[in-house]
Parts: sequence; C-alpha cells; structure tokens
Amino acid sequence: MWPSSPSVCALALALLLTTDGNIATALQLDLSSTDSIKSVASTIAYDMMTYYKGNLSGQIPGELPGPPPTPAITNEGYFWWETGAMFGSLMDYWYYTGDSTYNDVVTQGMLFQTGANNDYLPQNQTNGMGNDDQAFWGMAAMTAAELNFPNPPADKPQWLALVQAVYNTQVARFDNKCGGGLHWQAYPFLNGYNYKNSIANGCFFNIASRLALYTGNSSYADRAESTWDWVTGVGLIDQNYLVYDGTNSDDNCSSINHEQFSYNAAVFLLGAATMYNYTNGDPVWKGRVEGLLNSTINVFFPQGIGYEVTCEAVPSKCTIDMLSYKAYLVRWMAAATKLAPFIYDPVIAVIKTSAAAAVLQCSGSPSDHPNGRMCGLSWSKGTQWDGTSGVGQQMAALEVVQSNLIQQAKAPVTNSTGGTSQGDPTAGINDPSAQNPTAARPATKGDKVGAGFLTAVVSCVIIGGVAWLSIPG
Ligand SMILES: *[C@@H]1O[C@H](CO)[C@@H](O)[C@H](O)[C@H]1NC(C)=O
Ligand SMILES: *[C@@H]1O[C@H](CO)[C@@H](O)[C@H](O)[C@H]1NC(C)=O
Ligand SMILES: *[C@@H]1O[C@H](CO)[C@@H](O)[C@H](O)[C@H]1NC(C)=O
Ligand SMILES: *[C@@H]1O[C@H](CO)[C@@H](O)[C@H](O)[C@H]1NC(C)=O
Ligand SMILES: *[C@@H]1O[C@H](CO)[C@@H](O)[C@H](O)[C@H]1NC(C)=O
Ligand SMILES: *[C@@H]1O[C@H](CO)[C@@H](O)[C@H](O)[C@H]1NC(C)=O
Ligand SMILES: *[C@@H]1O[C@H](CO)[C@@H](O)[C@H](O)[C@H]1NC(C)=O
Repeated sequence: MWPSSPSVCALALALLLTTDGNIATALQLDLSSTDSIKSVASTIAYDMMTYYKGNLSGQIPGELPGPPPTPAITNEGYFWWETGAMFGSLMDYWYYTGDSTYNDVVTQGMLFQTGANNDYLPQNQTNGMGNDDQAFWGMAAMTAAELNFPNPPADKPQWLALVQAVYNTQVARFDNKCGGGLHWQAYPFLNGYNYKNSIANGCFFNIASRLALYTGNSSYADRAESTWDWVTGVGLIDQNYLVYDGTNSDDNCSSINHEQFSYNAAVFLLGAATMYNYTNGDPVWKGRVEGLLNSTINVFFPQGIGYEVTCEAVPSKCTIDMLSYKAYLVRWMAAATKLAPFIYDPVIAVIKTSAAAAVLQCSGSPSDHPNGRMCGLSWSKGTQWDGTSGVGQQMAALEVVQSNLIQQAKAPVTNSTGGTSQGDPTAGINDPSAQNPTAARPATKGDKVGAGFLTAVVSCVIIGGVAWLSIPG
C-alpha cells in the first residue's frame, strides 16, 4: 500500500536513523498533491487499525484492547471512548479520500456498542461512563449523519436517532449545582462526578449545535446557547477565550483548574462555528468563533505546529487519552471551516505546517510495529521520533494529514440539503439508565475510571483535596 502514488514514489526515500539505531523509512508527504495526501493517510490509517481486533472472531466489536492500567500512561490499552473517537476519524478518512476500506468495520462497531436502549450507554461500560465518553460515540454518529456515511440497515438504529438519544439522556442529567452544567461523570456513584468540566459540557454544546443545524429544530439551539452561557459564566471559558479544564461542584464551581487541553478549545470552536452557521452569520457567534480560533492557535500552535502543551511540555504526564487530543483539535478546526468559511485561511495555514511536521514523526520502529513509519506525537521535534506509538498518535497524524483536503471536501449535509439519516426526537427519553443504572449495574471487582482520569487527578490536586477522587480498589 505504501508508497503507492507516483508523487510519493518520485520522492527519494529518506533513510532515517531511528532512536534505537535501526535504519527506517519515514513517510513522505507532498502537500501539493492530493494523491500523496491520500496515500499517506491510507498508510497511517492502516497502521492505526493494526491495533483494532474488534472484528476478529471472539473479540468485541467496538472495543480496542483495554482498558489501560491506572495510571494510564502507557499504550497497554485504551478506554472505551477512544474507539468511538477512532471510528469518527475513519468516517473522516472515507469523507476525505473516498476509500471505503474501513466502513463496514466502523458500522459494525458503532452498532454493537449502542447499548440495549440505543443511546451509547452499554451496560458493560456503566462503571466508567463519563458524559464525554458517551458523547464521543454520539459525535461519531453525528459525523456519520452529516457526511452521509452509509446508513445502517433499516432494522437497526439510525445515526441521527442515536445522536438524539445521547442528547436526550444527557439533558436528563443536568442539575442546579453551580447554576447548571453537566457533571463529568454520568452517575453520582462514579469517581469524578463532582468535577464539572469543559469536555463534558463542550461535547454537549457541540452535539446540541450540530443537531440544531442538521434538524433545524430550535430546541437544540436553545440548549447550545444556555450551555455556552453557563460555561462562560462560571469561568471555564474566560474573556480571552482561553478554555480551562474544569471546576468542582462541591465548591459551587468557585475555583477553576486552569490546565488547558486542545480538545477542550476545539470542541467549543466547532460548536460555535455551527451556531454561527445556524444563525446565518450572527455577529455575536462570529466574535466567539474568532476569539476561540485566536486563542486556540496562540496556545496550541507555537511556530504553527500543533502542540498538546500540558502533556508535551512534561511527557511523563501524558496519559493514554491525551496522546489522542490533537486528533480532535485538527478534526474540529477543519470541520469548522465548512461552517464558518471566513476562518479557512488561518486554519489551513496551521494544518499545513502541522501536517508537514507530523509526518516527520512517522519514522518510528517500536518493537510491536518495527516498520519504520509509526508516528510519534512530538510534531515539533522534527525527524527525531519521540519513541512513542499507539492509536492516539496514529489518529492525530491521520487527521492532520487528511484535513489538508478540507477545501475540496463536500460541505456537511443537513436534513434539508441532502441528509438521509432518519431521526427520532424522543430517542433515549425512556431509558431509566440515563440517570440511574444502579439496578442494572454489573458487579465487578472495582470500578474503572473513564476518559481524562489523570486530567482530573491533577485537577483535584490543584482544586484542593484528592478525597473526592480517589483511585478505586
Ligand atoms: C477486520 O478488519 C480489517 C481492516 O481493519 C480487515 O483487514 C480484516 O479482513 C477484517 N477481518 C475480518 C475477520 O473481518
Ligand atoms: C459485554 O461484555 C461481555 C463479556 O465480556 C461480552 O460478551 C459482550 O460482547 C460485551 N458487550 C458489549 C456491547 O461490549
Ligand atoms: C453558585 O454558582 C452559581 C454559578 O456561578 C451562581 O449563580 C450562584 O450564585 C452561586 N451560589 C452561591 C451560594 O454562591
Ligand atoms: C425538537 O426537539 C425537541 C427537544 O428534543 C423535541 O422535544 C421536539 O419534539 C422536537 N420537535 C420536532 C418538530 O421534532
Ligand atoms: C488574540 O489573542 C491575543 C493573545 O491572547 C490577544 O491579545 C488578542 O486580543 C486576541 N485577538 C482577538 C481578535 O481576539
Ligand atoms: C454555512 O455553511 C454552508 C455550508 O458549508 C456554507 O455554504 C455557508 O456559507 C455557511 N454560512 C455562513 C453564514 O457562513
Ligand atoms: C427531515 O425532517 C422531516 C421532518 O422535519 C422529516 O419528515 C423527514 O423525514 C426528514 N428527512 C430525512 C431524510 O430524515
């Protein structure tokens, strides 16, 4: 499969010395060539999918090997949400390249993990269910609807209805602590419930805005507006549009954990761009898009190269989750240019410089993949592979490479512009496990914790007192 395009073949294969002394061939990317971009994306996607066993006999569709040990620093496994995130990147892969190689595997996994009530609350995941974990699957289903990804068979739940079910079950979980907002975790018995954070509320905002645009139903837009108002009111987004990680509902959200992660900024950026589009260019939303883009580029693209500041500055603090955040950063920035075309130029500029830098990191030969082209995360380090590899690094490299095709890609569809996914505004509403899954809770040795666990460990140290989030035994 590699190298397969004339433009790639035309380039001399650079021989690079990897950190362990092996001679290896790194990926070669020619950003002026659509064929080269597609070919490199294809190789990176192929290598990413070598980690996925869910479609093999005896394995569970929709699960990467995992969950990881705690603390989740190494690539010994992945939390459940990351498979949903990965399926989203493979839908993007099909959208950008037209290559349907992975479509059936994606659909199989997406449908296997819906849970008994078709709302991405499968019982197996109850003990680690964050609102963000559920939402990553919901956002993948939303992407499927927007991109007209092949619809599931008629007797299966449909993409749009799955998103509406995620939305409805999350609406049921809002409370008045801190005057509103979602808790990080879905259920009060889970560790980290009292963290009210940007990713949980940002994912909800993102889904609500996209449902508003897709369906034209203003109820979703009203929820997007009120979520934005709460998040900014409590200070998770400040007046300079810096997006902070979270706050603690035990203190009425009076103190903020000021760590910044790229996916927090980008999940709001795409939602704001969607609201800008839904409102036909409302100047208020335009200002929010501009402010968020400005802060996102300032914080996460030093020298124009994507950088997960809180993790890359101190690599020993990178959790398995954080290694994937740059995938969502560039995914959502690229998607936002379709809805707010006025941001195209600044976005494509940093996507180009980041993609050129990222492929230099795709020169690794870890012992489990000695192929000389596995991707590290440290895009700013040039040809010196950072020694790490895994699904997150592959996904981030995949999104930043394929996003270079955003201009020629189709605009996302809505119900009135060619969207074919069937919805159900009442989906998920009668699921008792939306709020209280205790009756159905499987007995296990110990509760596992969900996405962003270490984020919150750091958070609670900063906020003061780890008692509210101790590691279960
Ligand atoms: C599983 O998916 C991979 C693509 O990632 C494909 O190459 C392989 O043939 C599939 N295996 C089965 C048993 O479907
Ligand atoms: C739940 O776990 C059981 C036992 O491992 C497995 O057989 C089943 O396929 C899992 N279901 C889902 C939706 O992951
Ligand atoms: C709790 O926080 C909310 C949101 O910031 C605020 O509106 C409310 O006044 C606060 N309540 C108290 C008792 O401080
Ligand atoms: C619009 O969305 C709301 C909230 O989910 C729902 O109650 C209502 O039925 C929807 N309206 C239509 C016309 O679908
Ligand atoms: C962009 O960010 C910089 C640095 O935070 C700030 O000084 C400037 O006012 C911002 N510009 C806009 C248009 O938001
Ligand atoms: C909304 O998105 C569509 C589709 O990409 C685009 O054609 C249109 O210009 C956007 N609207 C605004 C106000 O930018
Ligand atoms: C679009 O929405 C209308 C109702 O608002 C519905 O009748 C129609 O089936 C939807 N179209 C699709 C393709 O789902």
